[in-house]
Amino acid sequence: MLERIRPRPDELAHLRSVIDRLAPAIEARGVGAMVVGSAARGTWVRGDRDLDLFLLFPPDLDRESLERDGLSLARAIALEFGDGYREKYAEHPYINATVDGIDVDLVPCYRVSSATGIRSAVDRTPFHTRYISGRIGDLVDDILLLKQFAKAGGVYGSDQMTEGFAGYLCELLVLRYGSFEGVLGAAASWRPGTVIDLENHAAKAFDEPLVVVDPVDPNRNVSASVSLSQMMAFAELARGYLESPSIVFFERRPWPSVGEGAFGERLVERGTTLFALRFPTPNLIEDVVVPQLRKSLEGLVNLLERHGFAVHQADCAMGPDHCLLTFELLVDRLPAVARHQGPPLWNAENAARFREKYAARSAGPFAGPFIEDGRYAVEVPRRFRTAEALLGSEEVLGVSLGKHVRSALKRRELLEGPGCWSEEFAPFLGAFLDRASPLVRLGRP
Ligand code: UTP
Ligand code: MN
Repeated sequence: MLERIRPRPDELAHLRSVIDRLAPAIEARGVGAMVVGSAARGTWVRGDRDLDLFLLFPPDLDRESLERDGLSLARAIALEFGDGYREKYAEHPYINATVDGIDVDLVPCYRVSSATGIRSAVDRTPFHTRYISGRIGDLVDDILLLKQFAKAGGVYGSDQMTEGFAGYLCELLVLRYGSFEGVLGAAASWRPGTVIDLENHAAKAFDEPLVVVDPVDPNRNVSASVSLSQMMAFAELARGYLESPSIVFFERRPWPSVGEGAFGERLVERGTTLFALRFPTPNLIEDVVVPQLRKSLEGLVNLLERHGFAVHQADCAMGPDHCLLTFELLVDRLPAVARHQGPPLWNAENAARFREKYAARSAGPFAGPFIEDGRYAVEVPRRFRTAEALLGSEEVLGVSLGKHVRSALKRRELLEGPGCWSEEFAPFLGAFLDRASPLVRLGRP
């Protein structure tokens, strides 16, 4: 496997040549330049053409000037050497460009004297590089194996969609356990609440399921991004590998897309009803949009359940052009009658008001008010008898949605059944209807 993932000498030389052109150009403008991330440590997996280049500004510069001067320098560098630039906004803005086929992030930050004195989240990164570079020695191969193992298993990356293991986290785990197999051995028995603290200096209690205290900052959990499910997916893969080691654990397999025909048949066999809301992707980075999608999804699932439509599963996807929220329902059609809960009778005033309001109704199919568990209840005509009517209504915008997703949702389409299928989301829909843990997937032909 190492033969396949070690950076090749020509790759190394190419990266070096790009650095040797960019760094002096930055320094010529009076700003420090530092290569960080995996490129600085030789821990990138072959073919990952990513370079993290930091622009170091004096710490007495105010935040606004850092952003203004930092971005304008980064833009100038990107225009001079690259293919133009893309502005990215995380907690901290930076510039992304492609230079000679290499994906370069130009990130302005403060040159602070210690990682605990940081002024913005990215200021820690140079300290990570110094910490790891000074210690990895002959562990580079183990780090590469672990990164590739995590990539193939679908648990690599600290982005909001993956909620997995960052490169720096993989490096710390190898430092802690001494080898690739050592990490797997430990992970095989991980449980929520696992704490790893290389410097024994945690400055507080963390509440994430996996805690790896940052050796350069006792207040930060490097694995804050790792969800409980991804932590356990890693544990599952580790057990699987230790039980029967094989190269397949390192081989990436894209999720098989589902074709339009097979998708429709699958839905009929499952006997469920599928709905999807599709809308234009907001023009922001994934780490901003994805949490809003999750929040919207949760709000809409609650809305459906509140109206009596039982949700079997729901998920979200963010494509380059569209976002998709999918809802698979056990029930999508309900009777005319619904129950409406009233006040307890011991609250005389409210009870009287409720009774008068509903008792005055003309005779019809709906009963009540009646007393149940000491409270009034009444039958009323159901407002939405189909999930289609509910999801097609303005109620959708009434649930808690993130700011940008809410405005994108104004241009939504409601899709149903086989109509939810599109080329753009074929892999996502395939995975949605055929969920499987990483190890279960590996066992499939
Ligand atoms: P990268 O995401 O580029 O990671 O972040 P990497 O270590 O270079 O790994 P690959 O090979 O590109 O995937 C660059 C640096 O930013 C900091 C780390 O110091 C990392 O090395 N970082 C990034 C974090 O501390 N946490 C994160 O979740 C992401
Ligand atoms: Mn990187």
